[in-house]
Amino acid sequence: MALSETDVTYLQQLAVRRSGNVLTHKHTYLMESWLTPVVEELGLPNIEALVAELKRTPGRYDDHVAAAMTINETSFFRDVQPFEALRRTVIPALIQERSRTKQLVIWSGACSSGQESYTTAITLREYFPQLVSWNVRIVATDICDEMLERTRAGLYSQQEVSRGLPSALLAKYFTREGLKWRAHAELRKWIDCRKLNLAGRWGIMPRFDIVFMRNVLIYFDQAVKESVLQRTASNLAPDGYLFLGGGESMVNLNAPFRRETIDRTVCFRPELQLGSQGRPVSLSQSNW
Ligand SMILES: C[S@@+](CC[C@H](N)C(=O)[O-])C[C@H]1O[C@@H](n2cnc3c(N)ncnc32)[C@H](O)[C@@H]1O
Repeated sequence: MALSETDVTYLQQLAVRRSGNVLTHKHTYLMESWLTPVVEELGLPNIEALVAELKRTPGRYDDHVAAAMTINETSFFRDVQPFEALRRTVIPALIQERSRTKQLVIWSGACSSGQESYTTAITLREYFPQLVSWNVRIVATDICDEMLERTRAGLYSQQEVSRGLPSALLAKYFTREGLKWRAHAELRKWIDCRKLNLAGRWGIMPRFDIVFMRNVLIYFDQAVKESVLQRTASNLAPDGYLFLGGGESMVNLNAPFRRETIDRTVCFRPELQLGSQGRPVSLSQSNW
């Protein structure tokens, strides 16, 4: 049975309020597949009953439902070029810059089921063996508990590993478990999974050297996009790097970044603010 216009509007409003995701009518057909697992989990007969339950118990299941209504599409080595840029330019530069602290902190914002985080870990392991003795942290965040569980587990189906992961890297960094493939502990130990709603309040975060904020801003309205980018800038090292998704840009967005082409990809570097002495100052910490 098709959802009523009233229920669709209610769910759209809940999504924008709780996750910043702007769902349009082109997403309506997805609502059923998104919400059927929630309906089953709560032992309800159908989505209409779920909407009635949401109205009856305001706030109780809102975050859970909002997290379910997100698009989790991802793959290993998605878009390829950012990982080439890491290999050729970004990591060599950071290895030089951080040679004293031997610390590297990378953020996979909106990590989905973790393929981006593992691609990063594989790139580091494969091409920079010296990082084994460094303190490397790949902070993987998402709004969805199920996606974080999947990232933590590092367990992928044959279909998932066949999307983007070269077979030599699969054989080297994954072990077969039944019909699935588990990432080796040497990759998993670098990946630190945390729940974070990008559209909500952020806690105190580490200072990142590299941020992947890919294929998530597209779901937000302009104000949320700008807020996410401004807060990202506050948490990015002055010589850090931000990568957006292949089809994403900062055109018409008020965000303190400058565009830079590295190898064959576009990345964004923090715009330095000049203090009264004309010296660069770090951007201030935002109010989270
Ligand atoms: C299309 S996937 C992108 C995954 C990965 N970054 C990539 O490019 O392959 C979008 C991810 O954003 C997450 N997401 C959506 N809204 C979010 C929010 N407000 N805060 C944090 N994560 C969010 C979804 O749960 C989903 O896992």
